[in-house]
Amino acid sequence: MKEQKYSAVAAVILAAGLGTRMKSRRPKVMHELAGRPLLGHVLAALAPLGIGRTVIVVGHGADKVREYADAYWGGCEYALQEQQLGTGHALMQAASLLANDAKTHTLLVLMGDAPLITSASLQRLLEERERSGAYVAVLTADAPNPYRYGRIVRQPYSRRVRRIIEEKDASDDELLISEINTGIYAFDAAWLWQQLPKIVPSVRTGEYYLTDLVQMAAAEASVVAVELGRPGYAETIGIDDRVKLAEAEATVQTSLRRELMLAGVTMPNPGAVYLHMDVQIGEDTVILPGTFIERDTVIGAGCEIGPNTRLRGATVGDRVRITASYVEDSVIEADVDIGPFCHLRGGTHIESHAHLGNFVEMKKTRFGAGSADGHFSYLGDTTVGRNVNIGAGSITANYDGTPVKKATVIEDGAFIGVDTMMVAPLQIGVGAHTGAGAVVRRDVPPGYTAVGVPARNLPPKDNDE
Ligand code: UD1
Repeated sequence: MKEQKYSAVAAVILAAGLGTRMKSRRPKVMHELAGRPLLGHVLAALAPLGIGRTVIVVGHGADKVREYADAYWGGCEYALQEQQLGTGHALMQAASLLANDAKTHTLLVLMGDAPLITSASLQRLLEERERSGAYVAVLTADAPNPYRYGRIVRQPYSRRVRRIIEEKDASDDELLISEINTGIYAFDAAWLWQQLPKIVPSVRTGEYYLTDLVQMAAAEASVVAVELGRPGYAETIGIDDRVKLAEAEATVQTSLRRELMLAGVTMPNPGAVYLHMDVQIGEDTVILPGTFIERDTVIGAGCEIGPNTRLRGATVGDRVRITASYVEDSVIEADVDIGPFCHLRGGTHIESHAHLGNFVEMKKTRFGAGSADGHFSYLGDTTVGRNVNIGAGSITANYDGTPVKKATVIEDGAFIGVDTMMVAPLQIGVGAHTGAGAVVRRDVPPGYTAVGVPARNLPPKDNDE
């Protein structure tokens, strides 16, 4: 499916709705599943199909939606729906972009809030429309609880689709129908642009129903239904509140964990591991419970991560062990062990065979191969050479109240005594030492030992004073 297989197809994603039931300031399609906005999941399902054009109908939070799609997917076009007057009205907004496009023969309409749809089902829908030549191919599923969905009304014996009835307009008998409209269709483009202006607002709701097109095509016996049945329902789920969002998240998490386990990753308690879409984990790595692996984290082979660890945008080499720690936008090379209770902030790079023990915080720091920082310390804007030892309680004072943070350089083989205060900017030379409790304000030449701030013994205070 690499070449533009469906270059004569244009996709329109309806994404203008507010999503009132989400009770949110964020546009509905920007809520996330496994770290990716709902809209991103729909775009990901389209990506392998080689669709000719993709138009997103935007409305609520239009700028945020456009910004995201441009930054992460590119090549999308946008139609603005200023007032949300229904799905039919939403599609009408794409007419000025698409109606006169002679190269587009088929229009694939998707809902921006149905993120679990798969490329395979979309392909099935497109193939069925092509094969049948019908004006409309509609994707249906069998819902265990069809509440809020439009229902597929069929002829009693022929099972031909007659129309789609919305929940709020349905009779008691129609409410019993469990075959639902997923809101995903493939249309004959020429027919669609001719018929779309004929839709009139619903008397009950004032909305333009896109589903009216199905009835119009049925009148000409030109509708086919592609049935995903009960097993396919999970991938058609539309997110309209946070409960549905959580259900969809559970589905995505289960499949991500499964994929990784099948690829050789051990998870003794998979339900307690949270993953983002784009993470990569190597063979024989063990992910222990309470672990969050987020953004574009890449983990090598043979690692042990967790329990209770959060990695965001981390690149981790082979055979690394990270226990109960938090790593953001940092690189950790092979054979490093970290934690418990370390915090590696953005821009940190730990070279191979290094050891970070308890309560170590680093920010924008390069920590050399074979170096160790065992207990309670803060290194910020620091470059540490190879085989350096950082004593317990040592910190770099890199902030003097001015906006530019000051750098510290600790060269190969240096030995930083416990509780050393390194006041940046500062350079500590190769093989240099600092004494316990030293406050180091001046550069230490190679091989030198810096000592200072000796404690003075003061006499007892007189209580009467
Ligand atoms: C629609 C279908 C219903 C189907 C359901 C599947 C109609 C009339 N009904 O329900 O049969 O079972 O989808 O989820 O089409 N949107 C806009 N502009 C609007 C209205 C909606 O862009 O004016 C977008 C929303 O952002 C959302 C999608 O369309 O991404 C679905 O909107 P929603 O209001 O949930 O659809 P319904 O009309 O209730």
